[in-house]
Amino acid sequence: VEKIRVALDERSYDIFIGEGNLKEIGGKLSEFGFSDKIALISNPTVYELYGETVSKALRDSGYDLAEVLIPDGEEYKSLDSAEEIYTSLLKAKLDRKSALIALGGGVIGDITGFAASTYMRGIDFIQIPTTLLAQVDSSVGGKTGVNHPLGKNMIGSFWQPRLVWIDTLTLNTLPRREFLSGLGEVIKYGVIWDRELFSYLDANRNKILELDAKALMHIIRRSCEIKAEIVSKDERESGLRAILNYGHTIGHAVETLTGYKKYLHGEAVAIGMCLEAELSSQLGFTGSNEPAMLKNLIDSFGLPSEMPSGIQTGELLLSMQIDKKTVGGKMHFVLPEKIGRVKVYSGTEPEDIRRLLE
Ligand code: NAD
Ligand code: GLY
Repeated sequence: VEKIRVALDERSYDIFIGEGNLKEIGGKLSEFGFSDKIALISNPTVYELYGETVSKALRDSGYDLAEVLIPDGEEYKSLDSAEEIYTSLLKAKLDRKSALIALGGGVIGDITGFAASTYMRGIDFIQIPTTLLAQVDSSVGGKTGVNHPLGKNMIGSFWQPRLVWIDTLTLNTLPRREFLSGLGEVIKYGVIWDRELFSYLDANRNKILELDAKALMHIIRRSCEIKAEIVSKDERESGLRAILNYGHTIGHAVETLTGYKKYLHGEAVAIGMCLEAELSSQLGFTGSNEPAMLKNLIDSFGLPSEMPSGIQTGELLLSMQIDKKTVGGKMHFVLPEKIGRVKVYSGTEPEDIRRLLE
């Protein structure tokens, strides 16, 4: 089992990454001094696969466990579902020393964190992420939230978990496309922070695609280390943390304009990363070699790298302008200077985007 510390003063916590360690979560939790009443939040898909193992581990350690299942899907990351969670917690009499356990992907992690941050003005929560995306990104760093009909992730809070407990064996049941989507975020860490990780992905493609245990452990550990380091330096995204949004300015607009149906998140980010690398080259911040290297890696993992046809420059610009990342009318782009280093740039003009799409 690997341990990574997220250093945030009194909000510091550990990420544990193991293989087959789901059943050990009960013993681990005993170290925290939570009250006996705790709740497991999951969805029917994940619960069917891992719910029993986790529930048994918790009950065997003496916890009085409430279970709340939210239907599977991004559309259920909503205030309505949060209210259902609050109702179940109140009925089960969870108190201020209780903890919530999120068992699932980013949807379950985000909504559980949000419910934890607001129930009785804030109780503890634990992340047990079961998708690659959640293991390398969403379970770490404390961004929690739900969607609003007018915008994704628009309602939320910063609320750090007390523990992140990763079992890489859960990836064995993850649909292939979801796994590849998570790899999009791993590639992102290589571009923004770690050229060696980028090279590792290139050199170990087959092992990763075969879910080789050592290779998975390496990429998850390295991704968590990088995210932990960035979040420790800038928890609330007043500066550095924004580099985690590489590929997301265009990627998020692509998701919005395709109605969140055509692409998974990491797929849209892959397209965004390729276009934003091209933009960097067009603006003279990097040569043409880096965008080509990135496109090759993305293509080799079977992720999309090109803008879907039919997206107009005007609608793309409009979508980027109403994004949370646009402040004071200025679009913020994270642009690679070379693999392993990026800068945040807010001088992009609509004309640059027009040229890029052409
Ligand atoms: P998800 O939670 O919808 O999970 C994807 C699918 O995989 C679901 O159908 C789920 O039931 C299923 N699944 C989960 N684990 C499984 C397993 N081990 N075996 C089989 N099936 C499994 O999607 P996601 O990609 O994990 O997360 C996306 C969400 O994360 C979005 O809502 C996004 O906004 C959020 N997100 C948050 C942050 C953050 O910092 N908080 C960062 C990135 C993304
Ligand atoms: N997923 C981006 C962040 O956590 O800041």
